[in-house]
Amino acid sequence: MGRVAVITSGKGGTGKSTLAAGLGVALVRRGNRVLIIDCDAGMRGVDLMLGVSGKLVFDIADVVRGNCPPENAIYPCGTVPELYILPAPQNIRDEISPHIMRQLVRVLEKYYDHILIDCPAGIGTGFESAAAAAGYAVIVANAEPLSLRGCDKVRQRLVRLGIPEIRLVINRFNEKKFRKMNVFPDLDSVIDKAGARLLGIVPEDGAAAAQAQKGQPPEGRSKAVYAFDRIAARLDGVEVQLEI
Ligand SMILES: Nc1ncnc2c1ncn2[C@@H]1O[C@H](COP(=O)(O)OP(=O)(O)OP(=O)(O)O)[C@@H](O)[C@H]1O
Ligand SMILES: [Mg+2]
Repeated sequence: MGRVAVITSGKGGTGKSTLAAGLGVALVRRGNRVLIIDCDAGMRGVDLMLGVSGKLVFDIADVVRGNCPPENAIYPCGTVPELYILPAPQNIRDEISPHIMRQLVRVLEKYYDHILIDCPAGIGTGFESAAAAAGYAVIVANAEPLSLRGCDKVRQRLVRLGIPEIRLVINRFNEKKFRKMNVFPDLDSVIDKAGARLLGIVPEDGAAAAQAQKGQPPEGRSKAVYAFDRIAARLDGVEVQLEI
C-alpha cells in the first residue's frame, strides 16, 4: 500500500472526516508521523474534529498562492504529537487544481510516513485534486443501498484515474440495524456491491462520534478506536485478520 491516501465517498456524510481523524491518531499511535490534508474547500471539518480550528490562520490556498510557506499552514494537533493538519480553504472558490495538488503532495510526502487526504463527497474538483495526488484510495460507505450506489460511481472514477489500489471501509456498522433493514443477506454482499476490497469495518459508535464533534481526537477504548487501530495496522503492512 502507498503512503498517500484519498479518503472518499459517493454519498455525503458516510464518515470520511471522522475516519481521517481516527486513522490519523491511530497511525501516530503506531509511531508514524502523519499529515491530514483537508480538500473539502468551503466545508472543512477535520480541524474541528481534532480541536485545532481556533488556531488556524493560513490554509492550503495560502500555500498555493505563495502567501506563506507550507510549514506555516501545517498545524500540529496539540494533544497528538506527530499528527499535523493542512486545512482546506474556507471558500469553495479557492479549490486547488489537481495539477497543483499533485505537485504540493510530492513535496510534502518526503516529511511524513502517511498522508491522508480528506475530500468532499462525490466526484467534483475537491475529489479530483485529492485523487490526483494519492497513491491509493479508501472509499467510505455505510451498509445501505444509497451509500453503495454512490460508492460504485466513485470507484469507477478512481479506476479511470488510474488509482492502483482501491479499498473499502464500511463505517457506522450496526449489526442490529443491518439485520432489521433486511436488504442485504450479509456483509459479503455489501462488499460485492461496493466492488472494492475490504480494508475494515468501523462500528456505529456514538461515544467516538461525540468526542470528534467536541474536538477531542478519538482516543480511549471505544469500538471505533479499536477499528481505527486495526485499519492503521493494515496500512502499515501488518496482517490483521478481518472481523466480520
Ligand atoms: N462510526 C461512527 N459511529 C457513529 N457516528 C459516526 C461514525 N462515523 C461518523 N459518524 C457521524 O456521522 C456524521 C458524518 O460524519 P463525517 O462528518 O465524518 O462524514 P463525512 O463523510 O466527512 O461528511 P461530508 O461528506 O459532509 O464531508 C457525523 O455526525 C459523525 O459524528
Ligand atoms: Mg467530511
